Amino acid sequence: MVSIKAPRGVRDILPEESWKWAFVLKTASEVAQDFNYREVHLPIFEQTELFARGVGDTTDIVEKEMYTFEDRGGRSLTLRPELSASMVRAYLENRMDQRPQPVKLWSAGPMFRYERPQKGRYRQFWQLDFEAIGSQDPYVDVEVIALSVELFRRLGMKGLDVVINSVGCPMCRPVHKEALQSFLKPHLSELCPTCQDRYNRNPLRILDCKNPTCRAITDNAPDTISYLCPECKEHFEGLKAGLDALGLHYSIDNRLVRGLDYYTKTAYEVLSGELGAQNAVCGGGRYDNLAEAIGGKHTPGVGFAAGLERIVLTMEQQGCSFGKEPALEVFVVAVGDIERKEALKLMHEFRKAGISADMDFNGKSFRAQLKVANQMGAPIVCILGEEELKAGKVSIKDMETGQQVEVPLEEGVPFVRTKLGE
Ligand code: HAM
Repeated sequence: MVSIKAPRGVRDILPEESWKWAFVLKTASEVAQDFNYREVHLPIFEQTELFARGVGDTTDIVEKEMYTFEDRGGRSLTLRPELSASMVRAYLENRMDQRPQPVKLWSAGPMFRYERPQKGRYRQFWQLDFEAIGSQDPYVDVEVIALSVELFRRLGMKGLDVVINSVGCPMCRPVHKEALQSFLKPHLSELCPTCQDRYNRNPLRILDCKNPTCRAITDNAPDTISYLCPECKEHFEGLKAGLDALGLHYSIDNRLVRGLDYYTKTAYEVLSGELGAQNAVCGGGRYDNLAEAIGGKHTPGVGFAAGLERIVLTMEQQGCSFGKEPALEVFVVAVGDIERKEALKLMHEFRKAGISADMDFNGKSFRAQLKVANQMGAPIVCILGEEELKAGKVSIKDMETGQQVEVPLEEGVPFVRTKLGE
């Protein structure tokens, strides 16, 4: 065993699990295609400023969770904690405003946050991220929510709750903020230290604090929806009407404010009872001022990101199907030098024919090779012994029934193909 271990909060995704990831990624790509979202691959590190300005410097992410480092040229870079800011940066930088709007993009890959690790929360985790940039139509918000629900439906996930809210815009938020602060003022000393700190800098976040005392205090606090300006109100009505039209079930959660500063109007999450404290399978919303915050021209946008680990965890706990696990189909057994060379050739023929094949590379005995074939779960074993080779034949053994037949060497591949199809 090596004494150097993987850093705290990160995981190795081994073959037993990686095929499940591949299934989720393939399904995401199919759903993306059906909703007309195109895949992009963006850098894993960006200029620190992108996140400081985009995600917001009073957020937990920017204040305490970023992996920031200086490169050899003295630039401050950060491993991406999320994708929306990068997506908008890429949109602006590549002049995607010249394309038909909204530009719909998706991407999957690792994100990095220095959080306290627990079930469903890691320091390196994967997100599936979908963004529609360049439209303020509430039906795009509807589409984004519908896309996430359709993804989870295709994955067979059950019992998920969609919760929505509207967090307003720079027009209506200051009025709500003031009302919230005056409501909280008499209780300031009773709030948890984090919320006391948030009182001046980001009081909205006090609404989603999990501390029971803070929750009791904020039970009757002014909610954002009651303070929406006419434009935000109309947008929220449009969102609800669109969701209703599609028959998508949701509930309104006044406490849902999300942990990133860029949100305007729509905020939403999809929750799973299977996940414990970290119960959000996905989260998203609208970010109409993000492009401006990072120095671009005003460009509305909306999207969501889903945690891949959390999807797989939920699917495992719900007994969902991940499709067919990749499996070895044929193991070719041979002992002597000449036989091994023939085995190598036969194995290659199988592979070229699209049949998953393998052989021993460790000089094992005949019996030991059969054992390995069994351990690897190969349903068929091809045996190339001295006798067989002399006769230009190969023995084909059905590992389930134990039955063995000899066929001419050149008929090995078609014979096995037929057998596998049975
Ligand atoms: P977020 O809520 O910070 O939003 O993350 C989205 C999802 O990523 C969460 O719902 C969760 O499934 C997963 N996730 C977050 N942190 C972790 C972690 N430490 N370990 C495992 N999974 C995690 C965003 O990132 C926004 N960029 C979403 C968005 C896209 N909004 C608009 N467009």
